[in-house]
Amino acid sequence: MDASEIRRVGVVGAGLMGSGIAEVVARAGAEVTFIEGSPDLVRAGRDRIERSLREAARRGKLSEADREAALARVTGADDLAALADHDLVVEAATEDPDAKRAIFARLGELTGDDVVLASNTSSIPIAHLAQASGRPAMVVGIHFFNPVPVMPLVEVIPAASTAPQTLALARAWAESLDKQVVVSKDEAGFIVNRVLIPFVNDAIRLLDDGVATREDIDAACRLGLGHPMGPLQLADLIGLDTVAAIGRVLADANGDERLGPPPLLVRMVAEGSLGRKSGEGFYPYG
Ligand code: 3HC
Repeated sequence: MDASEIRRVGVVGAGLMGSGIAEVVARAGAEVTFIEGSPDLVRAGRDRIERSLREAARRGKLSEADREAALARVTGADDLAALADHDLVVEAATEDPDAKRAIFARLGELTGDDVVLASNTSSIPIAHLAQASGRPAMVVGIHFFNPVPVMPLVEVIPAASTAPQTLALARAWAESLDKQVVVSKDEAGFIVNRVLIPFVNDAIRLLDDGVATREDIDAACRLGLGHPMGPLQLADLIGLDTVAAIGRVLADANGDERLGPPPLLVRMVAEGSLGRKSGEGFYPYG
């Protein structure tokens, strides 16, 4: 299959990442079906996509007609069975290896043998998911960045079992979405999160140790490193549960607890402070 033949795309999960992926795919002209766990979550996913498209139109990134056309290409459903006749599926469910493996097992059964199954996992080695699908040659990592409509990067991750044609298709498809592709070996965290998460974790440790205020830690990294956001602001954007989950995968994979979530992060997640999405993280959100 050629990337231009991918006309119907499935996205599993419509949280921050899944809804962003669905939006970008619809804006590029393909039909998208996103899957969530219940009718309420399907409605919430669609609202997220609608809001982001409205924001893009407000910022002059797309016309009113293109916004409406993109939205018309998006369908939500609450059962993976709705993906049976799709050309490519991207899994963007929560960062839980067992949940992801269960999704790949079901996708392997209900999609066609020639359908590429991709994971947007932030950190879990693709090899751990590929076997569950029953056709590991067709499984690959396609990792987007938040906010998906804005960030130009996609990491493509072949597992040892990924066929060269699957890797080539993944790369060509991501490029057709106007993203720049880098390829990473199948090591936990790949490139960006292997670098980013220890950095964010150390910023959290600095805060917990009282070395500086949250504002000064973030200002130091914005002004001293030229980053668009400080690490604590970025953690709030990504979601503190996701930051903690990625840290756990990195620590386990490398046998190094310093890569894992620091105690303050673990406490905040346990208390439901998840960043922007819960209204409270290192900063309050209205
Ligand atoms: N749709 C389309 N375009 C949008 C948009 C939207 N919803 N929101 C913002 N933009 C565009 C703006 O129009 C602007 O484009 P321009 O430069 O062409 O004018 C650009 O994005 C930046 O916008 P602003 O200057 O207005 O600044 P914002 O405060 O809105 O930008 C931000 C926010 C883009 C999030 C910026 O702060 C940023 O880049 N932060 C860092 C984000 C980052 O590091 N993400 C990666 C996280 S790691 C990850 O995702 C991996 C995962 O596995 C955890």
